[in-house]
Amino acid sequence: MALGFGLVVLGVLQMSIIISAAGQINRASFPNGFVFGTASSAYQYEGAVKEDGRGPTIWDKFAHSFGKVADFSNADVAVNQYHLYNEDIQLMKDMGMDAYRFSIAWSRIFPSGTGEINQAGVDHYNNVINALLAKGIEPYVTLYHWDLPQALEDRYKGWLSPQIIKDFAIFAETCFQKFGDRVKHWITFNEPHTFTTQGYDVGLQAPGHCSVLLLPFCRAGNSRTEPYIAAHNVLLSHATVADIYRKKYKAKQRGAIGLAFDVIWYEPATNSADDLVATQRAQDFQLGWFIEPLILGDYPKTMISRVGDRLPRFTQAESALLKGSLDFVGINHYTTFYARNDTSNIVGFLLNDAFSDSGAITLPFKDLKPEADRANSIWLYIVPHGIRSLMNYIKEKYGNPPVIITENGMDDANSILISRKDALKDEKRIKYHDEYLSNLLASIKEDGCNVKGYFVWSLMDNWEWAAGFTSRFGLYFVDYNDKLKRYPKDSVQWFKTFLTNA
Ligand SMILES: *[C@@H]1O[C@H](CO)[C@@H](O)[C@H](O)[C@H]1NC(C)=O
Repeated sequence: MALGFGLVVLGVLQMSIIISAAGQINRASFPNGFVFGTASSAYQYEGAVKEDGRGPTIWDKFAHSFGKVADFSNADVAVNQYHLYNEDIQLMKDMGMDAYRFSIAWSRIFPSGTGEINQAGVDHYNNVINALLAKGIEPYVTLYHWDLPQALEDRYKGWLSPQIIKDFAIFAETCFQKFGDRVKHWITFNEPHTFTTQGYDVGLQAPGHCSVLLLPFCRAGNSRTEPYIAAHNVLLSHATVADIYRKKYKAKQRGAIGLAFDVIWYEPATNSADDLVATQRAQDFQLGWFIEPLILGDYPKTMISRVGDRLPRFTQAESALLKGSLDFVGINHYTTFYARNDTSNIVGFLLNDAFSDSGAITLPFKDLKPEADRANSIWLYIVPHGIRSLMNYIKEKYGNPPVIITENGMDDANSILISRKDALKDEKRIKYHDEYLSNLLASIKEDGCNVKGYFVWSLMDNWEWAAGFTSRFGLYFVDYNDKLKRYPKDSVQWFKTFLTNA
């Protein structure tokens, strides 16, 4: 906890230096071999949900349930990357990007989760990977980006059953066999903290389980136990797959295996001892929950004591399998919040769920006003120094592991009131990336953090889950009214200059 406070002070002191440095950085400022890329996911990009034998997923069902998505849209077509991948890869190439992070849809390889391989699915991803490599772009592949085959949800409730560990391992091993000769970076899971809490605590994402008293739609599941059970099976799935990769494939394929954690940086709302301790607890219940089993072999002590017997525990053998199962730490980072002790236990009383177990309230506010400028998403405040503080936190707490920023970016609103011409002028996005990258660079150059790469979320506007098409995170604009045509926003030129005039 003292560490957290020290870092905050450090962060504030160093901010002034960094702001003056913004605007002068480019690729050459970063260490040799540092990787720049853009990121995406299958369900948000591909469309073609009924083509070439793809099986339905829990997100197809959720998106087609009335009232779950802000604009009543679905991802049946998304941005049609299933058909347009060649054109999209050229867009990456135009910017000078080194890598592309995308996910493989489990239900394209195994339409019902297990059983016979669907060759058309294998062919599709072979084509994508080969097209990337032909343009000199490295594939970084996510194995699970939230699109669970519906068949496994129906058969045994998906992540709530330990049966899924074996089925996920078969899917992952199939990917190693089919694609591992060319894919050297594997990300087993995208944002397990988000999909287990949003999917099983507050019910805002698939499969939409929740039992929070306050919310009338929350009548399926158990918000006090299911997030922990799902998370437990996700962690064991990662460890099992990492073990298979290391024992059977790594020597020959020489790739690396990691996981992409979603991490909001938390700072204490005041410097009271209570809020400092609460800030650490908030981070334990977010990053610690998932990274500590994989690095240290068990859940954070604060979780063990506060969640009690609702938290599943690992056997010694499981703990040994988990420990050290990351070759790199993927970090999806967007924003910073301020934490305070939930002194009156108001959150605990109102929600009585996994979220409230941390005993911390985290908000983008310290007082009554937000601390920073905001993007379109109500949670996305622009706090560039947070990425530097977070890199230092990971370095100090977890022994300076290799880190890849697997997502960073901001969104604008999709509004009929904003013309395409105006939407292409995204100075705010340029400033966002310039300042976050400047802080990331300082964490490497001045603080010695072991950061290896940076992926922008996202290559282009796409279908943003429960926000549907209301949110535009892309470097490229997608015209949803005109055949999904792609147009470069000003940030494309900024990245091109950043990457190629180095
Ligand atoms: C922090 O909040 C909890 C209630 O969640 C309370 O029991 C505890 O006393 C608070 N800490 C202090 C020192 O006030």
